[in-house]
Amino acid sequence: TNECGSTYIVTHCNFFSLQHNAKVAVLGASGGIGQPLSLLLKNSPLVSELSLYDIAHTPGVAADLSHIETRATVTGYMGADQLGAALKGCEVVVIPAGVPRKPGMTRDDLFNTNATIVATLADACARHCPQAMICIISNPVNSTIPITSEVMKKHGVYNPNRVFGVTTLDIVRANTFVAELKGLDPARVNVPVVGGHAGKTIIPLISRCTPKVEFPADQLSALTGRIQEAGTEVVKAKAGAGSATLSMAYAGARFTFSLLDAMNGKEGVVECAFVRSEETECKYFSTPLLLGIIQCQSNNHKLKNGIEKNLGLGKLSVFEEKLVAEAMDELKGSIKNGEDFVANMK
Ligand SMILES: NC(=O)c1ccc[n+]([C@@H]2O[C@H](COP(=O)([O-])OP(=O)(O)OC[C@H]3O[C@@H](n4cnc5c(N)ncnc54)[C@H](O)[C@@H]3O)[C@@H](O)[C@H]2O)c1
Repeated sequence: TNECGSTYIVTHCNFFSLQHNAKVAVLGASGGIGQPLSLLLKNSPLVSELSLYDIAHTPGVAADLSHIETRATVTGYMGADQLGAALKGCEVVVIPAGVPRKPGMTRDDLFNTNATIVATLADACARHCPQAMICIISNPVNSTIPITSEVMKKHGVYNPNRVFGVTTLDIVRANTFVAELKGLDPARVNVPVVGGHAGKTIIPLISRCTPKVEFPADQLSALTGRIQEAGTEVVKAKAGAGSATLSMAYAGARFTFSLLDAMNGKEGVVECAFVRSEETECKYFSTPLLLGIIQCQSNNHKLKNGIEKNLGLGKLSVFEEKLVAEAMDELKGSIKNGEDFVANMK
């Protein structure tokens, strides 16, 4: 049991050394998100090995990236028979595999295709790198996280502190839009975004923005709506050519670097992500999370852990409380869809 009262059953006591050497895999590495995300990871001193997996084009993407003068070694893996090799020894797996939205589609419309893809990839993670931090970008995130969790459970290797739905793009967008409206440097703005990652389940907590900002009610409502529908703004502008890829690659890299920093012992690293949660009546919910390491009770070894502490919802304004209440039904439905999908899998 750690200091915040969570109990951990350590099934695989595998102690990583705390140093800047991480093997990171990108599954779906040839896609619109996968390629720029892999580029950003290749550019980072935190990554020593980059493992690129996709069902197509990875030899080319890997050859291209491997010529960049940074130390991470890059290997491409293509097709299901190379998936195990791609994952072996990975500490972090980032998954942007799957189809994106076209105009007129909701994220839930992607469920049929992406649920199978994510379940297959989660199954491979459970077999080949059960200790890894798993960061899911593939939509609908509100269902793909329960899917990943249920698949890991089936293999007896589920650790809720290591499965993340990447919602960072919602935070990135909220920071940018608030900064635009207030004439601030977006790099210095931080808006926590809680809930889930689809439409009204995306709940920006503008009342908790740093620096503190105030908006009249009509502007606050319009700003909240824009953050919730920002993905659709990009889908419409791309007019059939997909959804956010470059900003998502940035957000995926930001989340991965935060995780790696925390795994390397940096203190005070906080990111929001959609995770298994006791903070509301929803089984999965995004809130600010302190990322880090836990101390193993028996021998004081430091264990790289992902979530060190869930910082919870905190104080909400009346407007935000209403948004949370209104998101519950949709979130519960999407979570159930994910759980049912795995329960009915052959
Ligand atoms: N979490 C977020 O904030 C967020 C933001 C934007 C997009 N997305 C989601 O990310 C996903 C990817 O978007 P994209 O624009 O990169 O799509 P894309 O079509 O450009 O790329 C997807 C890649 O996945 C690969 N792929 C398909 N099946 C696979 C499998 N079984 N194993 C491995 N790779 C497989 C494809 O070959 C392709 O290279 C979509 O589901 C999209 O909705 C999430």
